[in-house]
Amino acid sequence: MTNKEIKIAYKEFESIDQLSAQERKTALAAIEATASSYAPYSGFNVGAAVMFSDGEIIKGSNQENAAYPSGLCAERTALFYASAAHPDKTMTAIAIAASQNGQLCSTPATPCGACRQVMAQYQFKSGVPMKVLLVGASQIWVFDKVDDLLPLIFDSI
Ligand code: THU
Repeated sequence: MTNKEIKIAYKEFESIDQLSAQERKTALAAIEATASSYAPYSGFNVGAAVMFSDGEIIKGSNQENAAYPSGLCAERTALFYASAAHPDKTMTAIAIAASQNGQLCSTPATPCGACRQVMAQYQFKSGVPMKVLLVGASQIWVFDKVDDLLPLIFDSI
């Protein structure tokens, strides 16, 4: 038997002003996208922004439903919309932000497992690392690729 360990590397910033111009644009788009969230049940307003290699950004937000499982997270709303609208473009980054009662959450919201799996698929489709920016008011966490948020990605088919 061998004990194994997986380490997750990410960078933490205190303000979006410390990000590169491209990262800042993506982070701000995710914050903006929280405004279009439809979350009458949870009151948790999530925004996501997908950046393409040509600089275009597609925004999405969580959309809830009275039949709870029929709703969708912000990340998947943005990723599915981005791929459907621009099937031939390369996704290079996704930023995620969350707000409650109109206030950006202090610490970053971390994506659910299903959204991480969908990010992994579009990273695979794009063929380049997809940076993940988790944007909070007092902390921003930057992961260089989806693998860092989803170790041992399923890629066996
Ligand atoms: N939510 C997201 O939009 N993204 C996530 O990664 C986790 C959760 C949404 C789903 C639901 O509308 C609300 O947050 C509360 O779970």
